Amino acid sequence: MPTIAIDGPAAAGKGTLSRRIADAYGYHHLDTGLTYRAVAKAMLDQGFALDDERLAVDAARGLDLSQLDRAVLSAHAIGEVASRIAVMPDMRRELVEAQRRFSRRYPGAVLDGRDIGTVVCPDAEVKLYVTASADVRAQRRLDEIRANGGSGDFDTVLADLVKRDARDMGRADSPLKPAADAHLIDTSEMGIEAAFQAAKAIIDARLK
Ligand code: C5P
Repeated sequence: MPTIAIDGPAAAGKGTLSRRIADAYGYHHLDTGLTYRAVAKAMLDQGFALDDERLAVDAARGLDLSQLDRAVLSAHAIGEVASRIAVMPDMRRELVEAQRRFSRRYPGAVLDGRDIGTVVCPDAEVKLYVTASADVRAQRRLDEIRANGGSGDFDTVLADLVKRDARDMGRADSPLKPAADAHLIDTSEMGIEAAFQAAKAIIDARLK
């Protein structure tokens, strides 16, 4: 059963690309960022101290992957808390177990996140690392916020992204980095269609 692992920093376009790939190949798709966001939301809703790893482990254990609501979980504030609690090793282990079970679904699965090719699915048939310059990612994130009726300014969004990258790349457990055998796709000067065609060429060559 093929697994396609897609990693990269925030707002690089990996979510859109992952959904497009899953649609094209008829595979299941899991945005693993939503699993960290769901734990963050559970902690916030219940008023838990955000550094209490035991409570975070409980929240992760109770998670139902079929109930991840992107519309609710995509809030910027939840992403911030998600990246702060994502440093907790025992909590990560719970989520990684659930993500690995998902990756074995028939007839194939696409998982996107930060550590899919390195930790969650090191044996994935295809590994992509999707990135773009910080400026391009900040502009895309700002467009997304505005399209959803929100407001923000470029410098604040850019500073948030840079801080998030540093936290995700700098943590001890499962830091964001390309797997040694990942194919790099830089979407700085690519639209979604071009990124999809680049990914498709890599996937078709690996799966044939
Ligand atoms: O991708 P998204 O912005 O939804 O992820 C939110 C946070 O969850 C990330 O900043 C990262 O800290 C964490 N995360 C992670 N490992 C993953 C996916 C997300 O640590 N596989």
